[in-house]
Amino acid sequence: MNKLLISLLLTLGISGLAQAAGDAAAGQAKTAVCAACHGADGNSAIANFPKLAGQNEAYLLKQLKDIKDGSRPVVEMTGLLDSLSDQDLEDIAAYFASKKVQLGQVSPDHLEAGQKIFRAGIADKGVAACTACHSPNGTGIASAGYPALSGQHADYVKKQLMAFRTEARDNDPNRMMRDIAAKLSDKDIEAVANYVQGLH
Ligand code: HEC
Ligand code: HEC
Repeated sequence: MNKLLISLLLTLGISGLAQAAGDAAAGQAKTAVCAACHGADGNSAIANFPKLAGQNEAYLLKQLKDIKDGSRPVVEMTGLLDSLSDQDLEDIAAYFASKKVQLGQVSPDHLEAGQKIFRAGIADKGVAACTACHSPNGTGIASAGYPALSGQHADYVKKQLMAFRTEARDNDPNRMMRDIAAKLSDKDIEAVANYVQGLH
C-alpha cells in the first residue's frame, strides 16, 4: 500500500472516531430537562437522584441507552429519552463527563467497615474488593465503562446495591454486580455506600 493511501485511511479513521465521540458543548443544550432532577452541572442536590458529573462517558452512554430501551427501567425518566438520537445521547454523556463531581458528607458511623469492604472486599464471603473495578479513589475505569462511585449520594448507591441484589436492576454485563451484591448484607451496603460518597 502506498504512503498516501495509508495516510488517507488514517485520516478517515481518525475523523470517524471523532464523529462517534460526544460533543460536550452541544450536549449542554440538550440537558435543560435533566437539570430539574440531576442538577444543571450533574451534581444533583437530591440523594435519590444520581450525580452524573464526572461520570465516565462510556458508562453514561450505556445507561442512557439501557434506560431508553427499557433494559434499565427508570420510571422517573419514562419517555424522556424517546426523541433523542444516539448522537444526542453521546453529546449528553460527554457534557456530564466533562463536569466535576462534588463530594458528599460522610457519616463517621461504620466508616471503617465501609473502607474495608471497598479496599479489601470481604474474604470469608468471597466478595471482591470494589477497587478492582471502581479504582482505589473511586473514579472507575473509564476505558472499560466501569462507573465512578466517588462522591455519589449514599442513598442512591444503597438503592442500586439493593436493586442488584434483588435483580430489579440486571443490566450489569456478566452479572458483575448482581453476583457481588448477592453476598452483601444490609449492614455491608449501608457502610460501603456511606464510604464512597466522600471517596476521592
Ligand atoms: C424526574 C426526575 C428525572 C429527570 C427529569 C431525569 N432523570 Fe435521570 N434519573 C432519575 C432517577 C431517579 C435515576 C435513578 C433511578 C434508579 O434508582 O435506578 C436516574 C438515572 C439516570 C442515569 C443513570 C446514572 C447512573 O449513575 O447509573 C442517567 C445517565 C440519567 N439519569 C440521565 C438523565 C438525563 C440525560 C436526563 C435528561 C434528558 C435525565 N436523566 C432526566 C431521575 C430523573
Ligand atoms: C468485577 C468488577 C466489579 C467489582 C469487583 C465491583 N463492581 Fe460495581 N460495577 C461494575 C460494573 C461493570 C458496573 C456497571 C454495570 C452497568 O454497566 O450497568 C458497576 C456498577 C456499580 C454501581 C452502580 C453505579 C451507578 O452509578 O448506578 C454501584 C453502586 C457499584 N457498582 C458498587 C460496587 C461496590 C460497593 C463494590 C464492592 C463491594 C463493587 N461495585 C465491585 C463492576 C464491578
